[in-house]
Amino acid sequence: MDGATMPLRLASLVLASLPLVALAQNDPVEDLLAKMSLEEKIGQLSQLSIQNTLTGPVIDQGEPTQMPVTLVGSVLGASSAQATRQLQEQVINGSRLRIPLLFAYDVVHGFRTVFPVPLALASAWDPDLAQRTARVAAIEATASGVHWTFAPMVDISRDPRWGRVVEGAGEDPFLGSALAAALVHGFKGSGAPDISSMLATAKHFVAYGAAEGGRDYNVADLSERTLREVYLPPFQAAVAAGVDAIMPAFNELAGVPMNSHTALLTGLLRKQWGFAGLLVSDFNAVWELGPQGIAATPADTARLAFNAGVDIEMASQSYRQHLPTLVRNGQVSRKNLDDAVRRVLKAKQRLGLFDDPYRYSDEARERASQLTPQHRALAREAAQKSIVLLKNNDALLPLSKQPGKVLVVGSLASDASATIGPWAGAAHPEDSVTVLQGLRNALAPGTQITYLPGASPISQHLQDITLVEKVARDSDLIIAVLGETAEQSGESHSRADLGLPGGQIALLGSLLKTGKPLVIVLMNGRPLVLDASVQQAHALLETWFLGSETGNAVADVLFGDVNPSGKLPMTFPRHVGQIPIYYAHKNTGRPPSGDGSYASAYIDVPWTPLYPFGFGLSYTSFSYSSPRLSHTRLASTQTLGVEVTVTNTGKRAGDEIVQLYLRDDVASVTRPVRRLRGFRKIYLAPGESRSVSFSLDQRDFALLDEHFSPKVEAGSFTVFVGPDSTTTNQAHFEVSDKRQLPIPGQSVPVAVLD
Ligand code: NOJ
Repeated sequence: MDGATMPLRLASLVLASLPLVALAQNDPVEDLLAKMSLEEKIGQLSQLSIQNTLTGPVIDQGEPTQMPVTLVGSVLGASSAQATRQLQEQVINGSRLRIPLLFAYDVVHGFRTVFPVPLALASAWDPDLAQRTARVAAIEATASGVHWTFAPMVDISRDPRWGRVVEGAGEDPFLGSALAAALVHGFKGSGAPDISSMLATAKHFVAYGAAEGGRDYNVADLSERTLREVYLPPFQAAVAAGVDAIMPAFNELAGVPMNSHTALLTGLLRKQWGFAGLLVSDFNAVWELGPQGIAATPADTARLAFNAGVDIEMASQSYRQHLPTLVRNGQVSRKNLDDAVRRVLKAKQRLGLFDDPYRYSDEARERASQLTPQHRALAREAAQKSIVLLKNNDALLPLSKQPGKVLVVGSLASDASATIGPWAGAAHPEDSVTVLQGLRNALAPGTQITYLPGASPISQHLQDITLVEKVARDSDLIIAVLGETAEQSGESHSRADLGLPGGQIALLGSLLKTGKPLVIVLMNGRPLVLDASVQQAHALLETWFLGSETGNAVADVLFGDVNPSGKLPMTFPRHVGQIPIYYAHKNTGRPPSGDGSYASAYIDVPWTPLYPFGFGLSYTSFSYSSPRLSHTRLASTQTLGVEVTVTNTGKRAGDEIVQLYLRDDVASVTRPVRRLRGFRKIYLAPGESRSVSFSLDQRDFALLDEHFSPKVEAGSFTVFVGPDSTTTNQAHFEVSDKRQLPIPGQSVPVAVLD
């Protein structure tokens, strides 16, 4: 009688009588654990970067060294089927227990096909689109043998000086949470795991975006309320979406480095949120506990990080060097060590690597899956939807495809490496369509296009400026591509001056003198401070860094094949001195109004942003009805229906991103002037109207009281529905009763730090 024919009762009797250890031996993970030496276990908790294993040094007790790949559990940076297979072979053939490696890579916004940088993609306000881009990124990366991405980056950022704003979804936790969940789903894939499923990592936990002064790696020091209300929700959303790993950040939070933050790593993530995945340090971050000033020796860094909850050490080698002794002398528990190793082995098991360690490294699949026409089509769609129209005087845009003589100017117009942004490791810039190429592709044959760089973001030097002025005077249209190079944002690339760098403002001065119609196409990785001369252009298009299909998508929008629909996910300041500036600020006792005297304002610069969160124009126009509410008074357990009618009042079809904000008018603690609580993208033909409905419930009404207990308080609320965060289109309602919560779901982080 085999298992399939054995009656159920008998089968359970047999199972019950088997010794536990026999059951454990059927589980390859437990089986392996039982066979592993202490050093082999610790090897699974060490991750090397490929440069370290093959060509370059790793930091080992502060000294650069090299080490064989057979001693580690995962490798960062191998990105081809051939390289991953070779490394895997070394481990499978050269180690006692033949435990396969995990290959990790920063697949942030695409792999070979590059999608818009995350800040750009956030401008599309389209979680489904984000999910589709992550899916394609995973399909391409996994074919090259990559199992694990260090994405999504879900750091909220309200300081555009910080170079890494380009990697995240901007300033808002609601939009950020929606995108975090979508990206996790995209990387993992839906349904049963297959060879295109990738482990996803939410990073950088937590408050990395609150780096003081916007200076990368700097300390963060913020209130528990801000931590819970602003910085934690996207991580909670990622955990709820099934994220496989979380990366503690480089920063400290109020004196405690994140890589040794027991309360947040073990207390909050593991115990309260029930996160069972991997905790992987950032690059050398365990070792950095030394310079941060809480570890006297490398052994202390290993002890502090491991005991706080960091499973895997990336790059530096304190674990490999010191955990053996720390375990032997009882400063690190064997049980905790086994738990961490078990998490690593289970991740490998989930990916099927114990069945076939090479299943992801497939050169044929790699060739067939990368940069396919379908992937490029998605890159173009994503790029089109990420573009934000900031200004369009006298409806200069869309342009005719026969615009007369065109001058294209600015070095970024032909800079392929700028199209892919600062973090697109496996991309080849030459696969990208530059803005110049995109314009050439789109303009009618025979159109006279002159391209002159004129100026670049990295030099004050003006190139052939007399010629530029002459051609400009002789042109019917000027398209200036201005902004930042890819290297001017991203990790370790914070800026204190957010103006257009290099000679670009001088170039712009020359162009403006001609009085010719001028369109500025911005390429940049952060909100910029756009000085008065930029404001004098007739049209302004924010295109961020749009990826492989940059030029085609820019041309699609400039010439009206696509009507722009993006909205800013981050506030644009007028002046760097306004930072931090964000829409969900507090009212204060002296809100700015009138002439601003003795109010919370500045005497030299308006307090308002240049472009607010949620802002973006279209080639058509939309009108909104007043919000209609299902109740004007309701119990905290009831759901409020909110409905508006949106009408396309212009002559072109277009998408509109309808945004809902909520204000708690009076509460026991001060609340933001408004918080985003819903958004919906709708398509409307000219003249068409559509009603858009939202529902709000206790998760939206709730707050954390002064003791950080979640509750709904009775009282009045204002709901705003409109095209951006400044809308005054509003209605009022009242919640009639108080209610103590835990809240089902995840809208408010209900965690309590201990
Ligand atoms: C450092 C970065 O902070 C992190 O985001 C990245 O995942 C790692 N390096 C690995 O490349």
